[in-house]
Amino acid sequence: MILGIAIPGFPGNQSSLNPAGPAAAHIEHTFALIFWITAIVYVLTLTALIFFVIRRQHDLTLIPEPIQTTDASDHLAVRVVATAVGLTVLLLFIMMISSFLTSRRIGHMNGQQALTIDVYGHQWWWEIQYPNKHEPFRIVTTANEIHVPVGTPIRIHGTSRDVIHSFWAPNIQGKRDLMPGYNTDVLMQVDQPGRWRGQCAEYCGLQHAHMSFYMIGESTKDFDNWMNAQMQPSITPTNPQTQHGQQVFLTHSCVMCHTIRGTIAGSRVGPDLTHLASRSTIAAGMLPNTIGNLGGWIMNPQSLKPGSRMPPNQLSGADLQDLLAYLETLR
Ligand code: CUA
Repeated sequence: MILGIAIPGFPGNQSSLNPAGPAAAHIEHTFALIFWITAIVYVLTLTALIFFVIRRQHDLTLIPEPIQTTDASDHLAVRVVATAVGLTVLLLFIMMISSFLTSRRIGHMNGQQALTIDVYGHQWWWEIQYPNKHEPFRIVTTANEIHVPVGTPIRIHGTSRDVIHSFWAPNIQGKRDLMPGYNTDVLMQVDQPGRWRGQCAEYCGLQHAHMSFYMIGESTKDFDNWMNAQMQPSITPTNPQTQHGQQVFLTHSCVMCHTIRGTIAGSRVGPDLTHLASRSTIAAGMLPNTIGNLGGWIMNPQSLKPGSRMPPNQLSGADLQDLLAYLETLR
C-alpha cells in the first residue's frame, strides 16, 4: 500500500510507506494526509496560474490598453484572496492536528505486557540483548538481528556505547536516537511476519551507511524456538577439524574481542558469536553470512568495511579453513 493505493511488490521491507505495525501505520496515515493535501493544493494553484496567464494573454491580444479595475472587481479580488488565505490556514491546522494526534497515539502505546529488548549502538553494528529478570544466566545476546513475536508489544530499551546513533526500522516505528550515557525507551509492535530492514539514521562516522539490522517478525512458536536455541551455550566441536578451528579462534586475536559462550572467549568489544551461523548476514547486514564472505571478512575486514574495529588476520590457509568449519557449526 502506498498513500492508500495498492502497488504490488512496492515499496518493500525498508519503507515507512509499507507499515508492518501500528506505530508505522499512524505515521503512514499522517504522511498520506499531508501528501494528498499538498498535492491537491499544488495542482489547483498551478492550474489557476496557467488558466489566468493564458486568459490574460488572450485579453491583451483583443484589447491592447491596460484593463481598468472597478470597485466590483476589487471586492472580488479581496474575497478570493481572503478565501485562499482562510483555506490555507485551515489546511495547515488540519495537518498540524493530525501530526499531534500521531505523536500522541505513538506515545500512548500500551507497553504493560511489552517484551523488553536492549539495543546498544556501536560503531558500526548493533548489539541486541534479551534480558531475563528471573534467570539472569539465560540472557540472550546477539547482533544485528532482532527476532520478535508478531502481535506482541516490544519495548526497545536503547543506548549507545560510543557516539550518537539512531534506531530506525521504517516499516515498524519512527526514528529514535540512541545516545551514550542516556537510555531511550520506545514501544513498537510488528504485526506482519517478515524481515524488516532497519538502518542507523544518524551520521556516526565512516561506516554509518553500513550499520543496518533486521527486525524479524515470526510466530510466537518460532520465536520461542529461536529463543531457546539462542540460550544454549555454543556446541562443543566433535571432529578434529572443528576442534582445531576452535583452538585457532582461542589462540588468535579473535578471542580478544568476541564472546563464544561455553568457551573461554568472553570479550564484548565485538559481536557475540555463540550462534553466529544462525544469523543471515555479517558486518551489520552488509554481507550474506556465507563461508566465502566470512573468510574474506576474517582475513581483511578493512577492505570490505574500512575503519571498522575488526583488525586484519594473518592465518594460514589450513587454519582459516578449520576456523571457518568451526564457525559454521555455531548454529
Ligand atoms: Cu550509527 Cu549512523
